[in-house]
Amino acid sequence: MQATTIATLYPALLHAHIALVVLSVGLFAMRWVGVLAGGHWPMQRRTRVVSMVFDTALLCAGVTLWWLLQLHPLQQPWLGTKLALLVMYIVLGTFALKRARRWVGKLVFGLLALAVVAHMVAIAQTRNPVGWLSP
Ligand code: HEM
Repeated sequence: MQATTIATLYPALLHAHIALVVLSVGLFAMRWVGVLAGGHWPMQRRTRVVSMVFDTALLCAGVTLWWLLQLHPLQQPWLGTKLALLVMYIVLGTFALKRARRWVGKLVFGLLALAVVAHMVAIAQTRNPVGWLSP
């Protein structure tokens, strides 16, 4: 790929990726609070579709950045760690919104999901698997 193409596409994609992180995680947090408050809207079809669109767009922007920068998850431990944490975030999120039977379970799983996503942001910013703990 030409250096000029990368120089043009990279900033736009990075901004789109960050905006989608805010939309996707923001909607997850609102749905979680809504579920804890006993609301029905967080699990309605319309909400789930919007959430899926944000999540898919976020994933696509991430994968395109990955391809553009020619990164390899095994040679770049921060990316491999971030992808493993993404799986953990998705699993914790399903427990926070639906699978946990008790209110307190949903509360704890939601807090853990948000902690994992905060660590993913730290990893992306520092390009280090330990994130903000890096020297
Ligand atoms: C909840 C999911 C995700 C969060 C919270 C997240 C967060 C972020 C943030 C905040 C940045 C900007 C870092 C900075 O320059 O300050 C970033 C960059 C990046 N993300 Fe993500 N991301 C997520 C998903 C993904 C996925 C699924 C992939 C790949 C498949 C990915 C690949 C990348 C790449 C390659 C960069 C560019 C790093 C650089 O230029 O140094 N991200 N991510």
